[in-house]
Amino acid sequence: MDRRKFFLLTYGCQMNKLDSELIASRMIQAGFEETEREEEAQVLLLNTCSIRESAEDRVWGRIGAMKARKKKDPEVIIGVLGCMAQEHKVFLRTRMPHIDVVCGTREFGRIDALVRESIETRKGVIATGEGGNGDLVQRELSCRPMRAQAFVNIIRGCNMPCTYCIVPATRGPEVSRPVDAIREEVERLVADGVTEVTLLGQTVNAYGHDLERGTDLALLLRELHQIPALRRISFVTSHPSFLTPRLMEAMAALPRVSRYFHLPAQSGSNQVLKAMKRGYTRERYLARIRDLKGLIPEMEFACDFIAGFPGETEEDHRQSLSLIEEVGFSQSFVFKYSPRKGTVSADYLRDDVPEEVKARRNQELLQTQERVSLARNRAQVGEVREILVEGPSKTRKDRYTGRTARNRIVHFANEDPNLVGRYVPVRIVEAQAHSLIGVLQEETRTVLEGDGVLAGKGRAEGASQ
Ligand code: 5AD
Ligand code: SF4
Repeated sequence: MDRRKFFLLTYGCQMNKLDSELIASRMIQAGFEETEREEEAQVLLLNTCSIRESAEDRVWGRIGAMKARKKKDPEVIIGVLGCMAQEHKVFLRTRMPHIDVVCGTREFGRIDALVRESIETRKGVIATGEGGNGDLVQRELSCRPMRAQAFVNIIRGCNMPCTYCIVPATRGPEVSRPVDAIREEVERLVADGVTEVTLLGQTVNAYGHDLERGTDLALLLRELHQIPALRRISFVTSHPSFLTPRLMEAMAALPRVSRYFHLPAQSGSNQVLKAMKRGYTRERYLARIRDLKGLIPEMEFACDFIAGFPGETEEDHRQSLSLIEEVGFSQSFVFKYSPRKGTVSADYLRDDVPEEVKARRNQELLQTQERVSLARNRAQVGEVREILVEGPSKTRKDRYTGRTARNRIVHFANEDPNLVGRYVPVRIVEAQAHSLIGVLQEETRTVLEGDGVLAGKGRAEGASQ
């Protein structure tokens, strides 16, 4: 067989990263071989993102740069996959004719066949229908980047009407995977060393509404919680409208479900939320947070904000700033509004907040969040936390990095690579806005019990009440 090497570049969200694992799985199963060196690959694949214009611009730039390679070596196959493929379809090749394969978000289950077809026919191949769903790909366990952690898709697509968002167009309507298929995949991962899973979906907590009655995220969490070796379960990204009492009760009852909850508000202003068609008010959002904090006092929240949505006034903006303070998010992801062709806000509303105002508001949201994050992180100094060690720090050779059960990044002095993938106690000694510095504790001084609850000196995050 023709063992062609492929190089796969991924842009965008966590869902894209997971899709890339499935794309690589499919290619490897079909006899291709992955390489990290672009220059030695004959198949160049880009898994792309459309969420904001800046994301697309980066991809266009990269595809443009591949033109020289194609000129030198016309046998090279260039494939564009994912959201941009779905959004632009045939027009990708109109703009950049050196692209050979266009593979939409619901076609990558047959990416190998598309690449092969292009090699054999020497023609462009375009697949942007609803064919080979990626979930039918038998996942190659070796394709995941971390041994102890894995992402698992549970629902694809989005049925929500948010006026700014391209996702429903690029990813299509919601389709949930059956509970059995998810459990089977998680069990396979756990047997291969995974102890932390993150369940993924664009509206992850809408899971199950298209399945048998009574199937929802609460049920799935209870099911997965029974797998003994699984120590941490989290899920992203949730929509405030589907944060049901049933889900909250399940989260409270299941101590290994993460105490870090990403619940994007997008804005703190009712006027803007209405124009975005988010389906809740600031007051309802806050009520949900209060309910969950009532059930799980140690719960931490993270948020997404869009700065400069059409019609956003200074007062609206101040409402977003005050939401950060009022909830006390541990983290916020902030984006400048970017009109996406084909969405309601781009087609029917005027992009009337000037670029410099968007940039300033973006900055103010970030600064407010930094202040809040720093104060929250400082409150952790002196505590002992259990972290899952992820690997060497990216910036300092003598440090390793891990994460607490509440998703805080902790750097600590260490040179023992055997700690990667293990849960160890660290004492927090210093706080920054985006991370903590910790000192490894001798494990003999603390006793690890059942669910990763630390007894002895200090109490760990993730401890059940
Ligand atoms: N412009 C700016 N930000 C956007 N997001 C989604 N669509 C847009 C857009 N058109 C942000 C939202 C979402 C995150 C993934 O990206 O905050 O939660
Ligand atoms: Fe986009 Fe809204 Fe769906 Fe999130 S819920 S993916 S913001 S349409």
